[in-house]
Amino acid sequence: MPSPSSQRPLADIDFSNLKVEYTSKPREKCPDEQLGFGKEITDHMLQIKWRAGKGWGMPKIVAATSVSLHPFSHVFHYAIECYEGMKAYVDREGNTRLFRPEMNMKRFNESSSRLCLPNFNGEQLLECIKELLRVDKEWIPKRRGYSMYLRPVIFSTTPWLGLTQCSEAMILVLMSPVGPYFKSGFVPIKLSVDGKYIRAWPGGTGNIKYGGNYGSTVISQREASQGGASQSLYVYDVEEYVTEAGTMNIFFLWTNTEGVKELVTPTLDDGTILPGVTRQSVIDLAKEWGEFGVVERMLPFREVAAAFERGEVYEIFGTGTAAVIQPIGSIAYREKVYEVPKEAFTPGSFQLRLTNELYGIQYGEIPHPWSIEV
Ligand code: COI
Repeated sequence: MPSPSSQRPLADIDFSNLKVEYTSKPREKCPDEQLGFGKEITDHMLQIKWRAGKGWGMPKIVAATSVSLHPFSHVFHYAIECYEGMKAYVDREGNTRLFRPEMNMKRFNESSSRLCLPNFNGEQLLECIKELLRVDKEWIPKRRGYSMYLRPVIFSTTPWLGLTQCSEAMILVLMSPVGPYFKSGFVPIKLSVDGKYIRAWPGGTGNIKYGGNYGSTVISQREASQGGASQSLYVYDVEEYVTEAGTMNIFFLWTNTEGVKELVTPTLDDGTILPGVTRQSVIDLAKEWGEFGVVERMLPFREVAAAFERGEVYEIFGTGTAAVIQPIGSIAYREKVYEVPKEAFTPGSFQLRLTNELYGIQYGEIPHPWSIEV
C-alpha cells in the first residue's frame, strides 16, 4: 500500500513530558481464566489532544473513564476515526513484550492519512504506550493464550456540522486484558459467503483500520449467524474476489490446478485488504519454513469452490490480532457447504504449528526480533 504518511512530516508527540495522573478508584481485576474479549478495561488510558496550527498537546496517562466531547464532533456525524489493535504479553521472566508494534504505528498513521486525521511520530507514540503498559502492568494476564489487548484510536473532535478538514482531534489508547476472541477458542468456525453486503472495494477504505469497515458488517454477521455460520466471507465484483473473513484476513492451503501445493491469501494490491500484522507474520514464517509456495493474489471464489470439488483443500484459517489464528471448518456458498477435511485440525497441521510458533515468539519463549521488551 502506498504510504501517504511517509510523504508528510510526522508531527512530534512530546513523550519526554508525559504526565501520569493515577486513578483514585482502582478497579477490581477479573481472574485471567474468566476473561473473554474486550469487556474489561484497565485503570488508565493514554490521552493526547491535537489542534490545527498547534500540533499535539501534552500526552497524559489518566483514569480510564468517560470522555466529554462536543455533540457536533465530526466523529459522531461523519465517522472520522480509525484505530489499531495490538497485544502485550508477559514472558516467563515477568517482562512485558510487544509484537511488531512498529507495524501498528505505521498502519495507524496510514489510516489517519486516508481520513485526513493528523499524523504523529509513531516511535514517540510507542514510548507513551510503553509507559501506559508500565503503569497498568499488573493488569496483563499471565496465562498462555491470554494477553493485554491495546486499542489506540484517533478521532476528529472538530466541533462543526460542516464536513470540513479536521481542526481538532484526539488519540486515546485503551487497554483490555483478554482471552480468546471466539468463545469456542481453537475450534473450527463456519463461514458463509456474503454476496449481498460488500465490505470493501478498490478505492474504498478496506486497507485501513477504519471503524466504518467493521460497523457496516454487523448486519452481515447477523444474517450469517441466522444461517448457522459464525462469520461472513466477504467477496466483491462479479468475479466474487475473496477479501476477508469477518474481522480476519484469510489463508487457503491447497494444491493448485498445476498440482503444486501452495498457501494463498488475497493480495494487498487492489486496496481491499487490511495489511494485517498477523497476516504478514504468517507470510514471513511460511516463506522461511519453505514447505510450499506462498502466493498473494486476486482470488475469485470459484477457484476455492473448484479446489474443494477436486478434494485438494487442506486447511483454511483466518488471522488477526484479536483472533490470532482461527481454524475454519466449512464455507457455505449458495446452496452448498464445503467442508475442510478433519486432518486440518490435528497436531502437525500447518495452522497448529503456526499458532505454536507465533505464541512462542509473542510470549518471548522463542527469541525473535519481532518480540520487543517494554
Ligand atoms: C483486531 O483483530 O485487532 C480487530 O481490530 C478486530 C476487532 C473486531 C476486534
